[in-house]
Amino acid sequence: MVGTGHQNTGVEGVEGGVGLTALMVAAARAIETHRHDTLARDVYAEHFVRAAPASAHWPVRMQQVPDGEANPLWGRFARYFGLRTRVLDDYLLRSVHTGARQVVLLGAGLDSRAFRLDWPPGCVIFEIDREGVLAFKHEVLGGLSATPKAARVPVPIDLRDDWVTALTDAGFDTAAPSVWLAEGLLFYLPNAAETYLIDTVDRLSAGGSALAFEVKLDIDDLLEYRDNPLYASTKEQIGIDLLNLFNVEPRPDSAGDLAGKGWSASVRTPFDFSRQHGRGPLPEQNDALAGNRWVFANKPRP
Ligand SMILES: C[S@@+](CC[C@H](N)C(=O)[O-])C[C@H]1O[C@@H](n2cnc3c(N)ncnc32)[C@H](O)[C@@H]1O
Repeated sequence: MVGTGHQNTGVEGVEGGVGLTALMVAAARAIETHRHDTLARDVYAEHFVRAAPASAHWPVRMQQVPDGEANPLWGRFARYFGLRTRVLDDYLLRSVHTGARQVVLLGAGLDSRAFRLDWPPGCVIFEIDREGVLAFKHEVLGGLSATPKAARVPVPIDLRDDWVTALTDAGFDTAAPSVWLAEGLLFYLPNAAETYLIDTVDRLSAGGSALAFEVKLDIDDLLEYRDNPLYASTKEQIGIDLLNLFNVEPRPDSAGDLAGKGWSASVRTPFDFSRQHGRGPLPEQNDALAGNRWVFANKPRP
């Protein structure tokens, strides 16, 4: 547990503070789902967006965006989330097919992978997020009579509180390999909370476990991006001031820390995957995505 302030989350729940970012990602996934060249399909995403008063009027199809692909938020940024979803879908499925049966989604938000992906038998998906976010998710999925394709265990807790006890009480087994995901999460957490989270994942992970996470390299330079079209349009169109939500403390070198603990870690840019898939964002001038890195780490078997 780390005794750090709670300044970034604001109102508890999906419609306040950083919870609202989960709705933004859901809207991006809804748009991605209906693209003719979709990278990832999430049929639940638009239901989340429509169910919350704060986002009920947001677009869930590209046709609803007046300036279409030219819109920095619903064009390029939403495509970024679509690509991220696809890459991490593939990563999680690869990991469970090579042995891990426990999946832990850290800051799960409105991630519907438990319902969307074809998990092999015996998988259990733990979803950690704050109570208000998981309660909203439960209500929407319940209304759709959605059925998970693996055992699904919501773990309502703030990651700055004692989430280890909550996770182990929920049935997580430290002796069995696991795959962990921190997607769109670490840049909202204080430096100490990220370090604690990475150390704790290492401590709870048996050999053969895997972890993927997203970081921003240049978070301390973020204020230079204040006028970047991506951040400006997110603030203007949906009222999310990402630069205000990001934690701007100097970031720990989590990939390096894991390597020091014996994990193998590869650090990739999103653009690597855009090239691999033949679609997705590519670098541009004054690019708010230039410092984003996706890290894939594996703990060797004993
Ligand atoms: C941008 S959303 C990403 C959600 C999901 N991982 C995805 O990619 O769709 C960030 C999520 O992190 C959660 N989060 C942020 N800080 C948290 C904290 N301290 N404890 C638990 N969850 C947190 C938010 O509630 C939100 O659901």
